[in-house]
Amino acid sequence: MKEINNNEILIEVKNLKKYFEVNKGFFGRSKEYVQAVDDISFFIRKGETLGLVGESGCGKSTTGRTLIKLYEPTGGEIIFDGVNISELSENQMKPYRKKMQMIFQDPYASLNSRMTVGDIIGESLDIHNIATGDKRQARIFDLLNRVGLSKDHASRYPHEFSGGQRQRIGIARALAVDPEFIICDEPISALDVSIQAQVVNMLEDLQKDFGLTYLFIAHDLSMVKHISDRIGVMYLGKMVELTDSKELYANPEHPYTQALLSAIPIPDPEVTKNSQRIILEGDVPSPINPPSGCRFRTRCQYAMERCALEEPAMREVTDGHYVSCHLMDDKYPVAK
Ligand SMILES: Nc1ncnc2c1ncn2[C@@H]1O[C@H](COP(=O)(O)OP(=O)(O)OP(=O)(O)O)[C@@H](O)[C@H]1O
Ligand code: SF4
Ligand SMILES: [Mg+2]
Repeated sequence: MKEINNNEILIEVKNLKKYFEVNKGFFGRSKEYVQAVDDISFFIRKGETLGLVGESGCGKSTTGRTLIKLYEPTGGEIIFDGVNISELSENQMKPYRKKMQMIFQDPYASLNSRMTVGDIIGESLDIHNIATGDKRQARIFDLLNRVGLSKDHASRYPHEFSGGQRQRIGIARALAVDPEFIICDEPISALDVSIQAQVVNMLEDLQKDFGLTYLFIAHDLSMVKHISDRIGVMYLGKMVELTDSKELYANPEHPYTQALLSAIPIPDPEVTKNSQRIILEGDVPSPINPPSGCRFRTRCQYAMERCALEEPAMREVTDGHYVSCHLMDDKYPVAK
């Protein structure tokens, strides 16, 4: 069993916003904003894995990157281990940079092809003054070992490895600085199905051994099921549902979550026969001009007048289960 400290929150965001300015028209004179992440709040406990899912473009990577201040937030607060890091200068952020690392979907693009694996991992050690000389070398070998590679691999170049091995190198690089928190941004989406489980299992082992906390991003719910303790579902820059993993699969409350779940193929033909597949009609609207009220209303089969007029608030409908949908007001009336 992995240890999660229920009382200790490692990272919390309150009303986080990230808008990107985009130029419009000739000479870029009028400005518009992509509302990539718009007022979302959540926390991650120490040792926990929070899964984050949603369709392409819904703001998952932007949430991750803003959380560790690779992007400057447009609004809201980021509290890391009790400290509000949202307004820290780049200099003040330095000690925190080491504590927060990222693993990417395409390890090949994120590894410098002209550097050996040993130098790629060693670079992280150098940037943060972690080890030099023999100690540096020993640490590189140890890290390679931890991710299932060998010290002979240190002198080779990224193109000499398979996709799964390259992801292992990316993980070793992230681990090099002894981080507390790792954002895994679709780390298995580009890998063969047969390799995906190996990488997930390894991430779980490393989490236990090093007491790591993860934000695990994926675009469909089948990929986060195994690794996540809790899961947040995003749609068009908003968090629409967040709860314990088991609860999300057993009792999905938001119509969007229900649609995502119904799209996962179920191996048992009896279950498939009895479960209804919900087809999401239409495209995801533009995050520059999102629909008024509930952003999901243009694709929601239950949309009513109120949904265009009023944005649903995120409500805790049962213990630790948060949903933002007007339907919840009838299903879980608020005590007057
Ligand atoms: N640097 C940027 N400048 C302008 N717009 C951006 C930038 N980065 C992201 N966006 C926009 O913000 C929105 C959210 O993008 P983001 O990459 O966070 O989505 P995502 O959920 O990670 O998608 P995917 O599953 O494709 O990785 C998209 O509309 C995207 O086009
Ligand atoms: S608030 Fe309305 S449109 Fe949005 S998910 Fe709920 S029922 Fe659908
Ligand atoms: Mg992304």
